[in-house]
Order: sequence, then structure tokens, then C-alpha cells
Amino acid sequence: MSKLDSSIAVEIRRLAKKKNAVILSHNYQPGEVQNIADYLGDSLELSRQAAKTSADTIVFCGVHFMAETASILSPDKIVLIPDKKAGCPMANMISAERLHSLRAKHPKATVVSYVNSTAEVKAESDICCTSANAVRVVKSREEKDIIFVPDKYLAAYVAGFVEKEIIPWNGFCPTHVKILPEHVTRQKELHPEAEVIVHPECTPPVIELADEVLSTGGMCKHAKKSAFSEMIVGTEIGLLYRLRKENPKKKFYPASDKAICPNMKKISLDKILWALQDMKPEVKVPEEIRVQAKKALDRMLAVS
Ligand code: 13P
Ligand code: SF4
Repeated sequence: MSKLDSSIAVEIRRLAKKKNAVILSHNYQPGEVQNIADYLGDSLELSRQAAKTSADTIVFCGVHFMAETASILSPDKIVLIPDKKAGCPMANMISAERLHSLRAKHPKATVVSYVNSTAEVKAESDICCTSANAVRVVKSREEKDIIFVPDKYLAAYVAGFVEKEIIPWNGFCPTHVKILPEHVTRQKELHPEAEVIVHPECTPPVIELADEVLSTGGMCKHAKKSAFSEMIVGTEIGLLYRLRKENPKKKFYPASDKAICPNMKKISLDKILWALQDMKPEVKVPEEIRVQAKKALDRMLAVS
């Protein structure tokens, strides 16, 4: 870390303490952001932290839907996102209106929305899920027909584990689709002793090549206990910083170095400091939508 970065980091920590703010960071954040966070995790782990924190302010270092989820779960807290433009393109691939029409076509179906969705879409859903609990959440529903939005690849992955009719939406993650099966095959040729771990947002041909399919938090736990000392990692490359830091004796190779989420990289130490100094940009969900969306999130948290 440069001298300037370390003085910014010190000032961030000082201000966070003074303002009773907790800094949550997703596993894809730049290394210097991961390092100053109070908690680092996947979507499910960070939702849990946001729901139970006693801090007055949550600084969410991730993308917009994650900060929105924190605000839905903890409405009495101030939720700040250091860059308001850090959005998730997949979350914007479905609107509440479109989901409403889809539900009207399948009146017997239950709606499961991946947390990578807007508050309005969550408010139209029966239950949310994350990549860590999607199979468990779908299994928990009594209904046979499941509308699953917005990620068609996560939907396809879940369909392999349940005896249910999955009605997917045609959404996808633009970062994970950059990981191609030939990238994984090439890495396997280069590192024949390595275990292959991939995220369920990857396409089915990539998932076919994996030894383990896990959320980012699941990958971190798995890497510690796995007998393999080398791993090919099929997800956004930011995760490799944490994997390498926590497992210095193991080797991690990105399945594709093109798997970069530009939105996750919009957060920087400067922006975190400005957010704490100015107490903005704030993420707040209109109360009517929040109350409905919270029901879907609470049902998910009760399942997992
Ligand atoms: P995780 O919940 O597994 O961290 O995934 C979040 C995400 O945005 C993956 O692209
Ligand atoms: Fe959204 Fe994909 Fe970025 Fe995750 S990696 S935040 S799903 S665009």
C-alpha cells in the first residue's frame, strides 16, 4: 500500500469509529478496500451483518442492490454506498412490472428472486435467495412451479437439484459469462493438480467442468479446508486477493483474467473517506416497497 493510501486508511478507520459506522465489503472489492473493512463476505454473510449490526451507519462497499438490501433490513440505520453508480447489470435485467406480468401468467407459481435484484423486484417476490442458499430456498417452497429471477444460469444450476418446474428469467451476469469452458480447460492443462471451484452464475458448460460450485463465501471456507494446494477459480478475480491472503501456502489461478466486474471496482479508499466525511451518497428504499421487500428477505434468512 502506498503512503497516501495508508494515511487515507487510517483516516477512514478514525472517522468510522467517531461516527459509529461499520464498513462492510463484498469479496470482489479491491484489496485495499477489503483490508479496511470490518466484515468481508458474500451477499448472504453481509446481509446477516447488516441485519444485526448495532452501528448507526453502514458503509457498504459493494454494488447498489447490496446496499439496498442492508437498508431494507436495517431501516433505522444510515446506509452509504461510496459510489452511487456501482450497480449490478444483472439486477437491472428485470423490472417489477415485467415480473408482475410473468406472475400473472403463472398464478400457481412462487417467485424466488436472487438478491441480485432491485428492491422493487424483491417486493414483488415471495422469497429471496443468494448463491449460497438458492437450492435450500427453492426446496423450502411447497409450490411445484418456481419463477426464478433474474439469473437464468443460477436457475439452471438449481434445477439440477430439485424436482420442481423452474420458470427462469433471461438474465445473466456479464462478468461470469466471460468465463468460457475453454478457459477452464486451458487452466486445467496448465495446472493438472488443481481443484476447480466455480460460482453458480457461470454458464452450464463451465459448471460441468467444476469440482465444486460455491458462493464466494463458500469458496473462502472451502479453500481453507480443501486437501488441494492449487485451485482454479471461476469467479470475479477480486476474490483471489482474499483467497491468497488467507491461504498463503496455496496457489490460486483465475479461470479467466477477463472476469472483472467493473462496478465492484468503482469503490475506492478515496470514495469511502468522502462518504464518511459527507455522510452521502445514502441508499434509502421507499417505505411501502421496503416493507414488502423485507418480507421476502426475512423468509430467506429464516430458511438459511
Ligand atoms: P456471492 O453472494 O456469492 O458473493 O455473489 C455475489 C455476486 O454478485 C456474484 O457475482
Ligand atoms: Fe452483478 Fe455480476 Fe458484478 Fe456480481 S459480478 S455484482 S452479478 S455484474
